[in-house]
Amino acid sequence: MTKAPLIDEWEQRREEIRFKTPPQNHHRLFHLLHPKQFDRTFLDQMCELTTDIRTLAKTPEGQSHLQKLLAHKRAMLYFTQPSTRTFLSFNNACHILGIRTSEIRDSSTSSEVKGESLEDSIRTFSSYVDVIIMRNLEKGLAERAATLMEAIPRPIPIINAGSGKDQHPTQALLDIYTLERSLSHRGGIDGKVIGMMGDLSRGRTARSLAYLMKNYRNVRIVFIAPMAFTMGRDILDHLEEHGIPYTATTDLTEVIADLDAIYVTRIQAEHDIAGESQKIDLSRFTISSKELGALKEDAVIMHPLPRGPELHPEVDIDPRAKYWRQERNGMWMRAALLTRIFNAEAELYALAR
Ligand code: NCD
Repeated sequence: MTKAPLIDEWEQRREEIRFKTPPQNHHRLFHLLHPKQFDRTFLDQMCELTTDIRTLAKTPEGQSHLQKLLAHKRAMLYFTQPSTRTFLSFNNACHILGIRTSEIRDSSTSSEVKGESLEDSIRTFSSYVDVIIMRNLEKGLAERAATLMEAIPRPIPIINAGSGKDQHPTQALLDIYTLERSLSHRGGIDGKVIGMMGDLSRGRTARSLAYLMKNYRNVRIVFIAPMAFTMGRDILDHLEEHGIPYTATTDLTEVIADLDAIYVTRIQAEHDIAGESQKIDLSRFTISSKELGALKEDAVIMHPLPRGPELHPEVDIDPRAKYWRQERNGMWMRAALLTRIFNAEAELYALAR
């Protein structure tokens, strides 16, 4: 009996990893704060490393190699804003690599309630661990933590795991990976029309992903958002500066047939000041089975999750729906990121031999 082609493919990949020359000249990554740090070379390298880690983890043997890779490291997960996927995928990425984790998920259980400054809290964490992964409601705190690190004798890397309404750079990396992977049979992201829909003004995931499009050739972006929640001027200026064409519309039906991918996002009602979200007709910014007919046969449907009514569960069974895979990709991409930050790539390939 012949083997399923997928298994052959994995075996072949595993063989390739065994004999791979470890990368020599990668620029060192320390803090990860903003998508402006990523160029095309870095993105391609991270996608490759993610696939290699994912491939190794497919066998118990590979998993125990990975477990040894960073077993001497400890991580602090400092998440004072709600999180399910980013927290769990970072936590599990750490565990895959043998990194032990500590966490604060609620500032009411830390010395913040006693008035401790962010700087003192961060410096304290840095006394105990080797990396701080942080998420907060405010913009710029990860940058402040990184600035502090530059001024102390034992600096450790800071990873921004979501900063308020501003940026979510590690989500953008896993989104790029998912797009590249899902579009690989069509040449990847280059040359594609990428739609982004929903609350684009307050959704940090779409902001970060749009920011990264400058790294791809001949892409076009289509923003689909209610008038109250259109993409921010800062991101549009950035796209214009890099010659990335974009259009904006409030009518999905007008553009849906053009899209190679649609990145659906939820309305961020938690940021409302005067009930703005209540005034939106969300049915116009929704993907359900009704919209699927108009979408290209090989289009990619993504969502950073959690979802609201804008993405109907009936879409889940459609082969174009990639968001559950996207969620899992986050764990592999974050494992790749930690491997890169701790400069452990050579070790990873050596262990795979
Ligand atoms: C997003 C976030 O927290 O920005 N979720 C995630 O990290 N996967 C998206 C959201 O909350 O809408």
